[in-house]
Amino acid sequence: MTYETIIVETRSKVGLVTLNRPKALNALNSQVLGEIVAALQAFDANMELGAIVITGSEKAFAAGADIKEMQSKSYVEAYLEDFFVGWEGLTRIRKPIIAAVSGYALGGGCELAMMCDFIIASDNAKFGQPEITLGVMPGMGGSQRLTRFVGKSKAMDMCLTGRMMDAAEAERSGLVSRVVPAADLVEEAIKAAAKIADFSIPAVMMTKEAVNRSYETTLAEGLRFERRVFHAMFALDDQKEGMAAFAEKRPASFRNR
Ligand code: HXC
Repeated sequence: MTYETIIVETRSKVGLVTLNRPKALNALNSQVLGEIVAALQAFDANMELGAIVITGSEKAFAAGADIKEMQSKSYVEAYLEDFFVGWEGLTRIRKPIIAAVSGYALGGGCELAMMCDFIIASDNAKFGQPEITLGVMPGMGGSQRLTRFVGKSKAMDMCLTGRMMDAAEAERSGLVSRVVPAADLVEEAIKAAAKIADFSIPAVMMTKEAVNRSYETTLAEGLRFERRVFHAMFALDDQKEGMAAFAEKRPASFRNR
């Protein structure tokens, strides 16, 4: 597939997607959505790859859903096409996805980052849900995911006032896992992804599934799920290899089986 709005590359065992609509600050229109999901599905199916990074430009990860594309939509059009449902494709990707965020991550841009498994931010990153300033509210998960990340008070503050959060506040609030200098962002994210990709891919995928389950179920059910998956891991050759390598004081060599 040829991509027009994103750049798709691989770096060793890491798939890298770079949003590339610089003139619109990487605003997310339906073409971007289709291309991102297609690229991620291809990475997910490629057994040479173990993790994925999504990034934007230094000025903008993404300044939101494309306002100009959606401004004239009617309710019935939005309803019939189930506007934004396509993003659920991203949440079905089974390999870990790191969002490497520099500059603006606003509206759908912030929501895209939150759909990823964790966020590494540059020190110039700015997060916000400014939809209220446009007469609407978040529509790609912001009211739900931001609340789970940062709690009710801050999520209400962000969604109701539309103010932006800088990288330091985002780290303090648990929205991002780490903050790095802007110049090192993509390299640091790829380094983290490469570290993940060197582990056992099935163990990594099962771990992602278990952590995500914690958002969707009760503690008792989540713990039961965790234990079942943990038991199942003893069927992996990689469990035998990882534990043998520890006992023999040598590096493990995982074979993804
Ligand atoms: C379409 C956008 C855009 C967007 C920026 N652009 N954001 N186009 N959709 N979300 C375009 C501008 O129109 C402009 O195009 C070009 O990108 C550069 O933007 P400027 O505004 O000139 O840049 P700057 O002055 O540096 O300001 C940066 C900014 C501002 C603060 C990020 O662009 C901004 O406020 N953007 C909108 C942010 C936003 O409201 N996002 C939420 C969208 S709604 P031209 O052609 O004029 O050069 C959403 C959720 C949808 O995401 C769910 C609810 C339905």
